[in-house]
This record gives sequence, structure tokens and C-alpha cells, in this order.
Amino acid sequence: MEMQTWDELYQTCMACRKCPLAETRTNVVFGEGARDAEVMFIGEGPGEQEDLTGRPFVGRGGKFLDEMLAMIDLDRSKIFIGNMVKCRPPKNRDPLPAEQEACIGYLRNQVALIRPKIIVCLGRIAAMKLIRADYKITKEHGQWVEKAGVSMTAIFHPAALLRDPRKRPETFEDLKSIQAKIREVCTHTF
Ligand code: URA
Ligand code: SF4
Repeated sequence: MEMQTWDELYQTCMACRKCPLAETRTNVVFGEGARDAEVMFIGEGPGEQEDLTGRPFVGRGGKFLDEMLAMIDLDRSKIFIGNMVKCRPPKNRDPLPAEQEACIGYLRNQVALIRPKIIVCLGRIAAMKLIRADYKITKEHGQWVEKAGVSMTAIFHPAALLRDPRKRPETFEDLKSIQAKIREVCTHTF
């Protein structure tokens, strides 16, 4: 299949009605950041603020994510932030397997076009889809796996860190590990 350009992918995704989440969304949240990002952060799906604004991670969890990024000298201009599903699941429930399946192609195309060196899954749902179906976030967060030449890891979701501050020290270690990996495999200056 001929690969879509970024603009074609964007247009297709913005008009998408492939799954029932199209019925209840306000905006499709395509994701945003550098088109040549070496690092991608992937959440599970838009929440209320994201649905209202069309932008990823702009609610309370998003503010916390910005703080986490700043701890390792990252900001949104240097990376790409996206989600597994592009439309908000009602009441922020987990996206259903069929919804994930319907939507994952957009993320795969985004990855194919951006060609990142590192993908960081935010939370369990993204890790189970992108790393391994039986991924155990509590045990495996911060560990690295290679998939198709991309270094992949997962950290606790910012919303989980807001709910449970006891998880934050471990996440700080994971962030430092991400910083070390960036220094190892990335070529842009961070
Ligand atoms: N949670 C997510 O997983 N993604 C967002 O964009 C916002 C909150
Ligand atoms: Fe399309 Fe994904 Fe939105 Fe479903 S969640 S309508 S597959 S963009």
C-alpha cells in the first residue's frame, strides 16, 4: 500500500467514523509535537479537556506530564505526544478492544512517518497494546524492550501518579532512565 503523507493521514483521521467513539466525541485528538521527533509519548485516549480542545494531555494529568518532561529537560516542542485512540471514550472508560483495533492504524502510520528512536507508553493500556498484551506495568515500568529498531518502555500514567504520589519516586527513576536512553540513541540536541 502506498504510504499516506502526514497531511493525508491527518485529514483522514480528523474525518474518521470507523468506530462508535465518533458518535460521542467533540474533537478528534490527533496528537501534536515535532514531525521529526526522536521520542514519542503515547497515552491511552483523550479525556474531557482533550476532547473539548482537540489537544493531547491538556487537563490536570497533562500539566503533570509537562512537569515530568521538564525534569529531564524535555518539552512538547522536542517530542510528539499522542494517544492509542483518537476520540474520547465516554466517561473516560478504558477504550474497548474493538475501538483500539479500529484506531491503532493511525498511530502505526504516525510512527512510520515520524520514525522515532524511542516510544514511551503512558500507562498500562498503551503498554499492553504497544509492548505486550500481558504487560504488567507495576512490575515492568521503566524496563526497555526493542521492537523493530525502536527502544520502548512504559511509565505510570500521569493520572495514576496524581492519584497515588507513592509511585512518583519510581517514576523519577524511569524518567532518568529515559534521559539516559535519549543520550544513548538520539542525535538531535536535547
Ligand atoms: N490521558 C490520556 O491517556 N491521554 C490524554 O490525552 C489525556 C489524558
Ligand atoms: Fe476513528 Fe479512532 Fe475516533 Fe474510532 S477512535 S472514530 S477509529 S479516530
